Amino acid sequence: MSREVRLARPDDMPAVYALRHVVFVLGQDVPEEMERDDLDEGADHGVAFSDGMLVATGRLLPPAGDTAATVGRMAVDGEVRGQGFGTLVLELLEQTARERGWPAVELHAQLHAKPFYDRAGYVPYGDVYLEAGIEHLSMRKDL
Ligand SMILES: CC(C)(COP(=O)(O)OP(=O)(O)OC[C@H]1O[C@@H](n2cnc3c(N)ncnc32)[C@H](O)[C@@H]1OP(=O)(O)O)[C@@H](O)C(=O)NCCC(=O)NCCS
Repeated sequence: MSREVRLARPDDMPAVYALRHVVFVLGQDVPEEMERDDLDEGADHGVAFSDGMLVATGRLLPPAGDTAATVGRMAVDGEVRGQGFGTLVLELLEQTARERGWPAVELHAQLHAKPFYDRAGYVPYGDVYLEAGIEHLSMRKDL
């Protein structure tokens, strides 16, 4: 099996949105109008491929008003979860943030995915809250 991870090019975006639609809208009942927002335009999107098929994505938003960038929309095809593709994308987004000189990354972790972010070195802060009807916890990693 060949693996590739890189930042998305414009022609990758239809497959990125299609994967997010399956994972979040169909898989987690997130409303379509919440899943797609106008922040996608100015974001970097990480993409990972298995044998040429786009199987994982995540996005990196620049710091807005504070010093931390934001990672979000982490989504891995259900057929290949637990095989390291999410970690590949997360590490690429962190590396991209580092190269831009951004000192930290924050994210809103779905509670079930906390072990994934724990393992990547993220530290939780604050209380659990609901977003799109799903329990979340804020987490942060200094780069
Ligand atoms: C969460 C998600 C992005 C993780 O991606 P992945 O490719 O499955 O994760 P990896 O294979 O890189 O996993 C790395 C580690 O995290 C753990 N892990 C991954 N997802 C986990 C989960 N949902 N719960 C508990 N542990 C998890 C794995 O066991 C693995 O640890 P190990 O190597 O010590 O066994 C993926 O499962 C996913 O897309 N889930 C559905 C959408 C979602 O909930 N996104 C997160 C929004 S915050």
